[in-house]
Amino acid sequence: MVGLIEKLEREHTLSKEEYIALIKSRTPELSELLFEKARAVREHYYGKDVYIRGLIEFTNYCKNDCYYCGIRCKNRNAERYRLTKEQIMDCCKTGYEIGFRTFVLQGGEDPYFTNERMLDIIHSIKRQYPDCALTLSVGEKSREEYQSYFDAGADRYLLRHETANNEHYRLLHPDSLSPENRKRCLHDLKEIGFQTGCGFMVGSPYQTEEHLAEDMLFIKDLKPQMVGIGPFIPQHDTPFRDFPQGSLELTLFMLGLLRLTLPNVLLPSTTALGTIHPKGRELGILAGANVVMPNLSPKDVRSKYLLYDNKICTGDEAAECKNCLQMRVRSIGYDIAVSRGDCKKE
Ligand code: 5AD
Ligand code: FES
Repeated sequence: MVGLIEKLEREHTLSKEEYIALIKSRTPELSELLFEKARAVREHYYGKDVYIRGLIEFTNYCKNDCYYCGIRCKNRNAERYRLTKEQIMDCCKTGYEIGFRTFVLQGGEDPYFTNERMLDIIHSIKRQYPDCALTLSVGEKSREEYQSYFDAGADRYLLRHETANNEHYRLLHPDSLSPENRKRCLHDLKEIGFQTGCGFMVGSPYQTEEHLAEDMLFIKDLKPQMVGIGPFIPQHDTPFRDFPQGSLELTLFMLGLLRLTLPNVLLPSTTALGTIHPKGRELGILAGANVVMPNLSPKDVRSKYLLYDNKICTGDEAAECKNCLQMRVRSIGYDIAVSRGDCKKE
């Protein structure tokens, strides 16, 4: 297995069978070797810098019904909210003052935010903060809509593919959502010129090692600039409430594999990882991640954007969240960078 890790380090890819073998036969010793190599590669491209992205969760209305997600439309217990454009601009202002140069607008697929409203918000943010990168994460849209966001100045787009295996995708979603359309969206985003992020949950219901290997090959083929992964965490008002949580150890292993597969990728150490273990995000960085995404949403709506149970940071002000992460990152010998943190060229 050490041979496979060395091969991955050298060639940045493995066959599906090799990925499966590596995932299945991982041990603590093998993981430590993988993480050492992942850290070396990450440091080659990015040094000790960890990039911060200010996350603005601007609506938890969603027309979809993904079986894993706490803001699915059928969840009657979710307390719904939307931020006004003024509230969104206030979040950016606060964020800018405390040092953020990337804003991530994330929300459910909320029909209230029509193309016209989205373009108005994108224009306003880019006019006010021309030196900042704007990332959108608002789900599946038509190619024309994506193009219009890009023309309005949006720089990046996050859309997790959730799972590359089509049968598995159908087990996680209702019939109204298709794996084909999900992949169509990601290819459109890349072609349009967005710095694109995909990603998946680790330990989602029915997931096998084979699915994870397919995720690696899908990502290798798509060549996204960012990949967001985190453990699946059951949410009590979803059909998947009784499934087990994804493991810390497998999530870290997948982060390491991603770093060796796409050496210069931007890889967040996610809030979900911080939720399943008190040092989850630090361990993510030590496994090869190089991005953290503190929350910039106003305090009164924080506790309503609950995709999964026990989410951390729901009671903290933006500045507290940034300071907390800064301290955590420093505690392991890394540093928060203030730049936009674009993907470095190979
Ligand atoms: N556990 C972990 N991650 C989740 N997401 C949604 N629901 C859950 C959950 N229960 C992830 C999905 C989505 C992203 C915004 O959050 O991967 O794309
Ligand atoms: Fe939000 Fe620590 S990162 S409070």
